Amino acid sequence: MALSLPLSTKPNLHFSCSSAADSSSFKSPKFPRFWPWQKVKVGPLSVSPMGFGTWAWGNKILWGYEESMDSQLQQSFDFALRNGINLFDTADSYGTGRLNGQSEKLLGKFIREFRGRTKVQDDIVIATKFAAYPWRLTPGQFVNACKSSLERMQIEQIGIGQLHWSTANYAPLQERALWDGLVAMYEKGLVRAVGVSNYGPKQLLKVHNYLEARGVPLSSAQVQFSLLSMGSDQMEIRNICDSLGISLIAYSPLALGMLTGKYSPTNLPKGPRGFLFSQVLPGLQPLMNSLRDISQKRRKTIPQVAINWCICKGAIPIPGVKSLKQADENVGALGWQLSDNELLELEYGALQSPQKMIQNIFQTS
Ligand SMILES: NC(=O)c1ccc[n+]([C@@H]2O[C@H](COP(=O)([O-])OP(=O)(O)OC[C@H]3O[C@@H](n4cnc5c(N)ncnc54)[C@H](OP(=O)(O)O)[C@@H]3O)[C@@H](O)[C@H]2O)c1
Repeated sequence: MALSLPLSTKPNLHFSCSSAADSSSFKSPKFPRFWPWQKVKVGPLSVSPMGFGTWAWGNKILWGYEESMDSQLQQSFDFALRNGINLFDTADSYGTGRLNGQSEKLLGKFIREFRGRTKVQDDIVIATKFAAYPWRLTPGQFVNACKSSLERMQIEQIGIGQLHWSTANYAPLQERALWDGLVAMYEKGLVRAVGVSNYGPKQLLKVHNYLEARGVPLSSAQVQFSLLSMGSDQMEIRNICDSLGISLIAYSPLALGMLTGKYSPTNLPKGPRGFLFSQVLPGLQPLMNSLRDISQKRRKTIPQVAINWCICKGAIPIPGVKSLKQADENVGALGWQLSDNELLELEYGALQSPQKMIQNIFQTS
């Protein structure tokens, strides 16, 4: 059956999933194409084909964080490092109330206390995001934000310094100062690479061109990207990333947990996620059936299949993890690949969902 889907299977990174053309002339090797210790490039950096997200580390309101979870989080971090994951996404705004900055603080602590090989520690890539707060009006203030993140983590250099969102829709003049801030932190060597987040296709091209003219390569673009967030904008962003050599980082690859199979209309998570899930989950049966079907045939789990879909689409997913069990399970998204037919089946299932994920309010065109 020929299906017309919003996303092609064209890969954009340094690895690829099989294509119909490949399979006629080339028999897939028995071993996986990539392993957790294999790396892909983000600008000058080598990172695992999947990173871990840490939004939940310090966030009580949405994610129900408690300080008693810290030892689990540390175990997840250590496990990730020992299994080849070296990319960790955070932000200076992560952590609610008095816990603001907690995600960065915990990451810094876990890095310092890691008892493994020094080389593993040295290879860690922290991708943090600097919020475009209204009081960050000058490049210098943005550089200070970067210095504060370095201080919270007690590290000397950040891997990828990302602008968390664009102010183009409501304060275009501020945005230019923030871009200049990215340039300044790169020139001062505070970050090894720069990236943006929540940028739509038009704005992504603009910031890329601006930074290029200033001699600063744009290394990454982070957007919401999952089976429930694969609209035409994501497609266009991915194509731009492909053509300009920007790495696409997929946030919320599990649709905040909806694509794990553990929630249902009668078993919703506590807090604000419950309301969102109650709108989406009732129509999600076709997709969940495909995910379940493929995961059983593959002897994988549903989250592993959902994350692997992102990788097959050429993105670097950064699933959020809250426990050792989740870290362990999500690492299993690496080392194998969905076939083209499986990708189509999943996308067909996803298209039947009447509700998709809501997009970030700061996402631009
Ligand atoms: N740039 C941005 O504006 C932006 C926005 C959002 C996120 N992000 C980044 O992207 C990262 C990932 O996105 P996300 O955290 O929003 O959502 P996600 O990765 O789609 O979902 C993560 C949540 O799903 C559940 N989960 C994860 N693995 C699981 C497993 N194997 N089995 C069962 N449940 C599992 C956990 O929550 P429960 O156990 O509570 O269900 C976990 O916190 C964030 O941590 C953050 O670093 C960036």
